[in-house]
Amino acid sequence: MSVESMSVETVASTLESRESQALERLMEWLRMPSIGTDPAYREQTRQAGQWCADQLSAAGFDACLRETGSPEARGNPIVWATNEGAADYKGPHVLFYGHYDVQPPDPLELWHSPPFEPVIVKGSGKPGEPADRIVARGACDDKGQVATFLEAMRAWKDSAGSVPVKFTVLIEGEEESGSANLEQFFAENRDALSQADICVISDTGMLERTTPGITYGLRGLSYHELKLIASDQDLHSGMWGGRCPNPNNELAKVLAQLWDENRKITIPGFYDDVLPITPKEKEAWSQLPLDQIEALGKIGLDADADIGEAGFDAVEREWARPACDVNGIWGGYTGAGAKTVIPSWAAAKVSFRLVANQDPEKIADAFEEWIRQRTPPGCRWEFSRHGTGHAGNVSIDSPYLQAARGALQNAVGKEPHLIKSGGSIPVVGMLKGQLGLDSLMIGFGLDDDRVHSPNEKFEIPSFRMGVRSHVHLVDAFVRMGK
Ligand code: BES
Ligand code: ZN
Repeated sequence: MSVESMSVETVASTLESRESQALERLMEWLRMPSIGTDPAYREQTRQAGQWCADQLSAAGFDACLRETGSPEARGNPIVWATNEGAADYKGPHVLFYGHYDVQPPDPLELWHSPPFEPVIVKGSGKPGEPADRIVARGACDDKGQVATFLEAMRAWKDSAGSVPVKFTVLIEGEEESGSANLEQFFAENRDALSQADICVISDTGMLERTTPGITYGLRGLSYHELKLIASDQDLHSGMWGGRCPNPNNELAKVLAQLWDENRKITIPGFYDDVLPITPKEKEAWSQLPLDQIEALGKIGLDADADIGEAGFDAVEREWARPACDVNGIWGGYTGAGAKTVIPSWAAAKVSFRLVANQDPEKIADAFEEWIRQRTPPGCRWEFSRHGTGHAGNVSIDSPYLQAARGALQNAVGKEPHLIKSGGSIPVVGMLKGQLGLDSLMIGFGLDDDRVHSPNEKFEIPSFRMGVRSHVHLVDAFVRMGK
């Protein structure tokens, strides 16, 4: 049958009978430990990229692995694939982005089954309880979500002979470590990338399991490591306590000055480029099914824990306000029992989630300067930066977003929620800043999917919704050209 005469429902109707094979394929991918940040897993990471390229080839794409970085400092390869679309296709040229790298699985002892041996766990799906799910590192973030796209492409190819939409597919292997080599890849492939009219990404979440979500804004990031060095050796704290700087004490004192009593970040100029929340957005967000107290309950906290920048509620703080977090802090003795010691150094990893027009480089410089001005007597700092990215805010009245809303309505039978998220996906800001390209972030994760955490899961109804949604998105793009 020709692509023209193939109705989207015919393609969608094939999905049910293929689901167990689709899940098998995803499980095969999840068995590949593509821990992109850890050089020990370089080969396995590449293998996971190759697996993805092979799937795209099976769906009729011209797919390959493209190297990143330089010969001296190789990055993980990018999966790159293109197709022609239907002969008479006049809809948008779509860039699909995802990532095949996953976060390290530690702490391993908290997993109920090994992170790279995916299992299907049964669940009732009743309110407050998970449904049937795949448990493995990367199940949701982002292999499971990318797999929903791959399966939709395969379904179109197998039912209609080919995928009718013109796609460029870019699946990277370094998103979880800050997409360090993506900027250079962009510069080298600017012409090809600027052919795209819109980017589609499935790497975000939904507010509830039965209603799809379109995310139109993410926060940016500026990530720092700092080391405070004092004496050239560890010291006996009896002989030296009270006589010379203790880097642990001094580092804690400096970091504590990062917030004032209203939990506002104290670095001068930090909020200069933050845009206010519009009354329209405030109103729209107030209509969404968001319950902060319930959300806190699910992570073992009660209502007292609803703290953050004064004057903003939890959703505003997550979606539209910057935040600063100490991700790790260490130095001196952390083993069992007591050791009386003044360490020679102390260190911390500090990150800023950024919003709207905040420039990550400017924030990074301002932070380091602020720290330098607080150098404790007799001490010195060493700094390093682990990646930055602009916030990704996309237009909500584009024709692509309208088309996506319709596609999700058709696929799921429900009007999608328009949401934001406090997480970061560096490519979104890069596409917008460098190519003026908007992204449609249509993700199927749930709040309790435990991404970046032990026992990460992806619920099978979410997987199903994802595949159906991508099948319908293809149809919506075809119809945009008619
Ligand atoms: N998929 C997430 C981002 C995300 C999480 C979006 C939850 C929406 C809801 C992504 O893979 C991720 O974790 N990104 C990192 C980026 C960083 C390392 C540059 C993040 O946000 O910490
Ligand atoms: Zn992700």
